[in-house]
Amino acid sequence: MPQKLKTSYVCSECGYSSPKWSGQCPGCRAWNTMNEEIVEATKKIASVLKPLKNAQVLSVSDISTEDEIRYDTGIGELNRVLGGGLVKGSVVLLSGDPGIGKSTILMQACGSLCKNKKVLYVSGEESAKQLKLRADRLGVDSDDLLVMTETDVETVAEYIRQQKPDIVMIDSIQTMNHSDIQSSSGSVTQVRECTNILLRVGKSLEIPIIIVGHVNKDGAIAGPKVMEHIVDAVLYFEGERNYSYRILRAVKNRFGSTNEIGVFEMSDNGLNEVENPSAALLSERNVNISGNCIACVMEGSRPILAEVQSLVSASGYGNARRMSTGFDLNRLNLILAVLEKRLGFKFSAADTYLNIVGGLKIDEPAADLSVALALISGIVDKPVPEDTVAIGEIGLSGEVRSVSRISSRISEAARLGFKKCIVPKSSLQNLKGDYGIAIVGVRHIREAEANVF
Ligand code: TYD
Ligand code: MG
Repeated sequence: MPQKLKTSYVCSECGYSSPKWSGQCPGCRAWNTMNEEIVEATKKIASVLKPLKNAQVLSVSDISTEDEIRYDTGIGELNRVLGGGLVKGSVVLLSGDPGIGKSTILMQACGSLCKNKKVLYVSGEESAKQLKLRADRLGVDSDDLLVMTETDVETVAEYIRQQKPDIVMIDSIQTMNHSDIQSSSGSVTQVRECTNILLRVGKSLEIPIIIVGHVNKDGAIAGPKVMEHIVDAVLYFEGERNYSYRILRAVKNRFGSTNEIGVFEMSDNGLNEVENPSAALLSERNVNISGNCIACVMEGSRPILAEVQSLVSASGYGNARRMSTGFDLNRLNLILAVLEKRLGFKFSAADTYLNIVGGLKIDEPAADLSVALALISGIVDKPVPEDTVAIGEIGLSGEVRSVSRISSRISEAARLGFKKCIVPKSSLQNLKGDYGIAIVGVRHIREAEANVF
C-alpha cells in the first residue's frame, strides 16, 4: 500500500501553517486562505536548502563601500521608485493584481536595458509568440533580449549560471516549479523555494533579478507576502483596472527610500509615465458644481492634488446610506459625525456618497478638511470656489490640526494655478516667503466653512 502523504494547511497570504483546517487563518485573520499542502520530508528540504559551508566573517571597517552599480531601466518613474535604478545583484519583487500591467512594464524596461546589456526574460505564463506580440506592440526588438518560456526553476537557474545574462526577469514566481517539491506550482512551499533558488543564483553571480508576484484575492495561490522578507525590494503596482492610472510604490527597499511613487497611464502602446499627476487628475474637472473640493495629499515625497466629490441626498430609508470610494469609510463616518455634532448639519437624515476622482486612494488625514468642505458643499448645495484647495486634519472637536510637509503642498497648489489655500492655523509658523497663493489659516472647521461659503 502506498504510504499516505503527510499534509498540513498553509495560509497563502502569510504562510502560517497548521495541521488542522480552519476557515480563518489564525496568523493573519484572512478568510479562506488555508490550503492543504504536502509536508516535504525534512531531509529533502535540507538538501534543497544547502547550508553555507565557509562562513565569511569580516571586520566592519574592512568592508569596502564602493558605490553600488545601478542600471538605468529607461523608465524614469521606475528608476525613481527603485531609488535611482536597478542595483546590481539585487532581487526585486514586483507585485500587483493580475492584469494591472506588470508584464508590460517589465517588457518596456527590457526594451531599454537590452540596448547595452544582455537581458533574460523568463515567462511561465505566455508563449514565445505572445511575448513577441507584446514586444512588437511596445516597440521592443533586440538580439540581446532573450526570451525563455520555462517553468522549471532549476533549468532557469542552470541557464543563468551558464550564460550569465546581465539582468533576469521572472514572470511570474507563481508559475515556477521545483521538481523535488510535491505541492503544485503557486503553493506557499513552491513559491518560497523557487524564490530562494533564484535569490541564491542572483546573489552569487551579482545578477539583478526582477520577480513578478501576483496578488490574488481568493487565496488559491500564494501571495507575494510569503516572499517579501527574502527579497531586497518590494514594489507594488496599484490602480483600479477600470481607470488608466497606475501607481508604482515601493513598500520595502534596501537600496533606497520607500517614499517614492511612480505614476503611469496605460495606453494602447504600453505604460506612459505621468510626470505631472496633479494636472492629469484634475484635467476632467467640472467647476462650479456643489459637493466638490480639491485636496492635496502626499504620495511619498510628492504632493498630488486630487478632487474629492460628494453627493448628499435625502435618505428614503430609516438608516442613512454611506458609501466611499478611495477614502476610508470609517474616517468618512467620523467626519460626518463631527459635522453633525459641532456644526449641526443633519447628515443622519441623508445618504452620503464620497468619491476620489481618478481611482486614487487617499489614506492621509490631511485630506480631512477637503472631505469636510466637500460634504458641507454637498449638503448646502453651494460650490466651493474652483480656485480653492483645503489641507488639514480634523480632530473630534472639529479643530483643524497641522499636517506634515505643508510647504510642498502649498507650492504644488500654487504651481497648478490655484488662488487660495486653506491650511491649519498652527502650520502658518512653518511657512516662509511668498508662495504666490493666498494662504488662510483656520483653527476650527467652523472658520473654514465661514471662509468658503
Ligand atoms: P499585463 O502587463 O499583461 O498585466 P499583468 O502582467 O500585470 O497581468 O497587462 C495587462 C493589461 O494591459 C491588459 O488588459 C492589456 C493592457 N495593455 C494595454 O492597454 N496596452 C498595451 O500596450 C499593453 C501591452 C497592454
Ligand atoms: Mg503578466
